Amino acid sequence: QAHITASVFTSHVPAIGAAIDHGKTGDDYWKPLFQGYEYSKQWMQGHLPDVIFLVYNDHATSFDLGVIPTFAIGTAAEFEPADEGYGPRPVPKVQGHPDLAAHIAQSVIQQDFDLTLVNTLKVDHGLTVPLSLMFGQPEHWPCQVIPFHVNVVQYPVPSGQRCFQLGQAIRRAVESYDRPLKVQIWGTGGMSHQLQGPRAGLINAEWDNRFLDRLIADPADLATMPHIDYVREAGSEGIELVMWLIARGAMADVAGGPAPKLAHRFFHVPASNTAVGHLILENRND
Ligand code: DHB
Ligand code: FE
Repeated sequence: QAHITASVFTSHVPAIGAAIDHGKTGDDYWKPLFQGYEYSKQWMQGHLPDVIFLVYNDHATSFDLGVIPTFAIGTAAEFEPADEGYGPRPVPKVQGHPDLAAHIAQSVIQQDFDLTLVNTLKVDHGLTVPLSLMFGQPEHWPCQVIPFHVNVVQYPVPSGQRCFQLGQAIRRAVESYDRPLKVQIWGTGGMSHQLQGPRAGLINAEWDNRFLDRLIADPADLATMPHIDYVREAGSEGIELVMWLIARGAMADVAGGPAPKLAHRFFHVPASNTAVGHLILENRND
């Protein structure tokens, strides 16, 4: 049956996408950031999955303030990059996996998580920047992607605990799919940043690194952290980090399996207004 081979965690920042698209990755400002993803791109070539279950947040791009699903799964065959104000990013269209997405929706909804089904969806930097960081600039993305949106923009947002439990339900869903697909789950967004208000520009590198330590070693304990701590410590947009707990909750150790292998860890301040964190964890079940 299908199984989860690895989880990838990375921040997203629109300026990272712009740096890639405009050939600026070698600039003094950007070089140290992109160097941190060199290993990741090599690792990816040796660990290509069939499907990426990509947990991300839309930034009032496809879901404007008219309708705000807490959790939404992209069930379409194709997802176009959205126009976020400067035209759509010049990146390939994202190919979905409607059959696996429908199966996961069925399984996860029957496990009592209310997902919104999204059959038409344009994807913003929250989804395309992580793909660019891990794959560079290919003509086609090398695997299929199921976009999974989490509302972290408009309050109230889901708790870390809820996200962690949802990750466990997603793992059970993937493992009950009867085709032998390799699936990676990605948790994206974060780390500390605040784009608005008197604390705009806030970065908390020490807290971020502690978050990485805890995410690796004791995610069940990390999941008990209340949402207000994210906002206080990591800024109003630091709340994006709850999405990482969905990916972490889907790893084998959470269900009693062996601890994952830490394949890569990277942290860099700043990229635009954001502290960039990145992890790759491999399940040992391949
Ligand atoms: C920035 C970071 C984000 O997460 C985002 O969605 C938009 C902008 C930034 O650092 O500029
Ligand atoms: Fe964001």
